Amino acid sequence: MKLDIFTLFPEAFEWFLEQRPVRKAVEAGSEVNLRDYRDWTPIKGGRVDDAPYGGGAGMVIRVDVVDAALTGVYGAGERPRTVVLTPAGRQLDDALVSELSAEPAVAILSGRYEGFDHRVHEHLADDEVSIGPYVLAGGEIPAMVLAETVVRRLPGALGDPESPIEESFSEAMGGRPEYPHYTRPPEYRGWGVPEVLLSGDHERVRRWREQQSELRAGVRQGDSGGDSVASPDRHP
Ligand code: ADE
Repeated sequence: MKLDIFTLFPEAFEWFLEQRPVRKAVEAGSEVNLRDYRDWTPIKGGRVDDAPYGGGAGMVIRVDVVDAALTGVYGAGERPRTVVLTPAGRQLDDALVSELSAEPAVAILSGRYEGFDHRVHEHLADDEVSIGPYVLAGGEIPAMVLAETVVRRLPGALGDPESPIEESFSEAMGGRPEYPHYTRPPEYRGWGVPEVLLSGDHERVRRWREQQSELRAGVRQGDSGGDSVASPDRHP
């Protein structure tokens, strides 16, 4: 997969690119590239934005700037699936992550200020995506959220090939949150670990985890399946 993140602030992504799943996915053959709109802007002085028609506060990223950046990277030919980040978009979920991570290439358009000229949404993007119903100052954090969810699905990103399969909200978990995890010590300040996890009985462990996942999802009401733990996901 080739992932291109278009941004006005490539330096904001330095930390992200150094993270293990990203490095591992890249080592395994995927690409994660940062693309700065300013490198292709046709506007004098490296400008990328302008005042909104009709007046109002803030600046709007120009459609010709975004188009020039996409053409600069992909040429005049076919462009990859292009996602514009906006609080008003389709809310990111596991199904969308699965869809995007199956693409050969994805372009993520991250904005700032008042966002993009709406023609970017209408004519240049295939998807409008939000990371949640709240407004952030810019698209950098949403771009990292989206990129990380996608990168985690790419070959090589995670050490254990099973781990992205059975995690919260995945198909293997029936779309439910994952079960709680515990590790040593078995008792700390009187806080114990559910006995079933120490039993070595894989079938009982499997059933307990399934029940915990259902409890967290609100599918199951207070039934711990005979194995002790009063409520899901409480710090004991
Ligand atoms: N830009 C600002 N807020 C956002 C959000 N919640 N999702 C995606 N892009 C955004």
